[in-house]
Amino acid sequence: MTPPNYVEVQRSCNTAHSDGAIEKDGDSDVALDLVGWLEEGGGAFDSVLVVGCRSGYEIDAFRGAFSGAAVLGVDLVPEFVRYANSRGRCALVADMHALPFGDRLFDLVYCCATLEHAHDAHLAVGEMLRVANRAVFCTADLGTDSSKRNPSHFTFLDEPEWLALFDRPGWTVEHKIVEESVHLFARRHSWNTSIPKWS
Ligand SMILES: C[S@@+](CC[C@H](N)C(=O)[O-])C[C@H]1O[C@@H](n2cnc3c(N)ncnc32)[C@H](O)[C@@H]1O
Repeated sequence: MTPPNYVEVQRSCNTAHSDGAIEKDGDSDVALDLVGWLEEGGGAFDSVLVVGCRSGYEIDAFRGAFSGAAVLGVDLVPEFVRYANSRGRCALVADMHALPFGDRLFDLVYCCATLEHAHDAHLAVGEMLRVANRAVFCTADLGTDSSKRNPSHFTFLDEPEWLALFDRPGWTVEHKIVEESVHLFARRHSWNTSIPKWS
């Protein structure tokens, strides 16, 4: 069940400034690193979904890398989606627990610093895997004290617990620890790719 005031908590904790400005716009190091690695392996993606896109700045990394790709962002907070749209980024309001898309619609699903905001991370991961045709990339906080102090975080898991969430039939998951978070890359067994191992 969705916790009370879930959207409001996400709005207030992810808006950096009292004037309502949206935090973070510019280059996304995480997205650019991922894109660099995918490009090394010759990976091209026709469609990308960015889950928890906030300002939408990560959308630009994928649009720049995969020429002609359809790149869509989703976020729970309407103001963030409006901001992304005002910057010419394609985004819509949606909840990662119930993505309004058909199965395997996007080649790649990308979700940075958002999964720990899920109130049901098993469901949210299942949704991302469902709509992904080839791969899902996620970062997730490792249940640190600072994560536990953040009122917009609802899921606190350690490394094996995050990995277990991606352990589903038809998928292989690789991971790296990066500072206080885990980066996970899940690929469908049916995706025939020359992209090298993640680690
Ligand atoms: C910490 S921000 C991360 C933004 C961006 N991905 C980044 O790495 O800078 C988390 C974002 O997830 C969004 N969010 C939280 N819960 C969500 C949900 N259930 N479905 C979709 N987006 C959600 C928040 O509104 C916020 O924009």
